[in-house]
Amino acid sequence: MIRSEILGTGSYLPEKVVTNKDWEKMVDTSDEWITTRTGIKERHFAAENEATSDLVVEASKKAIEDAKINKEDIDLIIVGTISSDNAYPSTANWVQKKLGIKPIPSFDISAACSGFLYGLIVADSFIKIGAAKKVLVAGAEIMTRIMNWEDRNTCVLFGDGAGAVVLGPTDEDKGILSTYWGADGNLGDLLKQPAGGSAMPATHETVDKKLHAVYMEGNKVFKHAVLRMQEAAIKALELANLTGNDVDLYIPHQANIRIIEATIERAKIPLEKTFINIDKIANISAATIPIGLDQAKKTGRIKPGDNVLMSAFGGGLTWAGIVVRF
Ligand SMILES: CC(C)(COP(=O)(O)OP(=O)(O)OC[C@H]1O[C@@H](n2cnc3c(N)ncnc32)[C@H](O)[C@@H]1OP(=O)(O)O)[C@@H](O)C(=O)NCCC(=O)NCCS
Repeated sequence: MIRSEILGTGSYLPEKVVTNKDWEKMVDTSDEWITTRTGIKERHFAAENEATSDLVVEASKKAIEDAKINKEDIDLIIVGTISSDNAYPSTANWVQKKLGIKPIPSFDISAACSGFLYGLIVADSFIKIGAAKKVLVAGAEIMTRIMNWEDRNTCVLFGDGAGAVVLGPTDEDKGILSTYWGADGNLGDLLKQPAGGSAMPATHETVDKKLHAVYMEGNKVFKHAVLRMQEAAIKALELANLTGNDVDLYIPHQANIRIIEATIERAKIPLEKTFINIDKIANISAATIPIGLDQAKKTGRIKPGDNVLMSAFGGGLTWAGIVVRF
């Protein structure tokens, strides 16, 4: 039986760090409010000359090196993002160009914070049917480019960065053991970037009203986030015939520490087996999980044979859970 295994990981965080104390000087907020409500202490901001594809390129170079493959072996590129370089071409197209890889299929996935896991699920399917042999899957965002700096409810929650993996086939007892995903467009209005698309094209008014920025009804999203994160984690485990006890490491999407705590309680996963970096990177939407995966791997928190659970939730609304054995 062919499964997909993660051959290598990489991540990139822009140099500039903005702390909660820095935020106190920019909007009416406090380190205390942000820390107690979310668990966030600091986040990275991309430099002015960096586009989302540049972040992917940095993360991808490391993932390709870690996978010990030649970049020419890659036959598909998938990037999860909601802050692409342009409306089109896709960020993945720019990545193919900037990495200097031969013309191969490359496309973006728009599933907000679930974008990377959606990308992994798609890549896994291509590998299982033999349609791809080495897939570069990335999650990347420059969320600070799509923020309304006057909306203190939302702007303090996000940061910038990218993570990437190389996926390839294996016939050993490892790799992606289960995938679970879902979406509910009925709740799309709770978290969206209202203007700039065909439903509301850009006008002076949309710019003045800051409708090109992330709009989120945080309270309502929170309730769905808890339920769907729990569902995604538990279903992914069930589909892999595992329980919370079998999890060696859980890498949750990092939107709010309280969502993570509620999820691990319900899925019966101990805190010490949960990877938490929200304090350092905040919410980087689709980039969050691949960055966590890379940091966990490079700091020795993932060993051969480990069962790693990942689950995410985001705008759409979308959600996904995956179990991978290393
Ligand atoms: C956004 C979020 C952190 C807000 O936390 P909360 O506990 O729900 O806070 P509330 O929205 O109830 O706001 C409580 C108070 O803090 C205030 N507040 C909001 N942002 C603030 C800030 N940055 N600094 C200080 N006060 C703030 C509010 O105005 C409100 O004041 P009021 O009671 O006087 O009206 C939380 O709802 C959340 O994490 N939501 C989900 C995010 C998510 O999962 N996104 C999807 C994945 S990307």
